[in-house]
Amino acid sequence: MKLDRLLTRHQRMGRVAARRVLAAGRVRVDGVVVKDRELEVDRFRTVFLDDVMVQGTERARYLMCHKPAGILSATSDPVHRTVLDLIDDPGKEELHLVGRLDRASTGLILLTNDGRWSKQILSAESKVPKVYLVETAEPVTEESIAAFANGFWFPTENAFTLPAQLEILAERTARVTLEEGRYHQIKRMFKRVGNRVVTLHRMRIGGLELPEDLPAGAWRELTEEEKNLITQPPNPGDGSSHPRICPVPCSKYL
Ligand code: URA
Repeated sequence: MKLDRLLTRHQRMGRVAARRVLAAGRVRVDGVVVKDRELEVDRFRTVFLDDVMVQGTERARYLMCHKPAGILSATSDPVHRTVLDLIDDPGKEELHLVGRLDRASTGLILLTNDGRWSKQILSAESKVPKVYLVETAEPVTEESIAAFANGFWFPTENAFTLPAQLEILAERTARVTLEEGRYHQIKRMFKRVGNRVVTLHRMRIGGLELPEDLPAGAWRELTEEEKNLITQPPNPGDGSSHPRICPVPCSKYL
């Protein structure tokens, strides 16, 4: 919400009065005097008019969890244990999951009460890479690399998948990088090249790796630095960026 609108809503003042108090330097956002009435203030920012708190009691929460196999990516379920069941925190009911992992999948999953942040991570436009370690039933073929990079037509969604990077690590082990998250996406992509996913583990979201010292089933708050690592574009020098378009046409699997 824009700052002047917040003032008119919460201080029962008209637009002109709101502009006047802003121009007079009487409004502070997170401790800093702000005169820009257009400033976007989400519900986690502290806003004072003189000594009166206009808003500021809500705390943004950012958590990571190491999801074990068998746990549902949901906040509640009548049958299965969910990721939220793993979080022993009094404020957990406000949290939502940033994306999903299938019940059998393991690895990094994020939780927050900040809808803007989760939207930013999940939207394909933001190009936040999600990196998975995959074990397959059959050997991973070189042809699959081109197929993943070219994208697949998913009739259910009436859409092509975005270019994905497939790296062969061993005969039946691969690393897959996606910039989107469609239902069972990696399983469906491997099926299209005649293979089958046996295990799937999310290792990284953006620049944030699942820490080695966070065991399966454990969670913790993100540090400010970790939070920023997620949405930060990959550093081209660190090997984490990947080609967006495969030069080899491979329409066979479309
Ligand atoms: N793709 C899948 O098929 N499953 C997951 O859990 C994540 C990505």
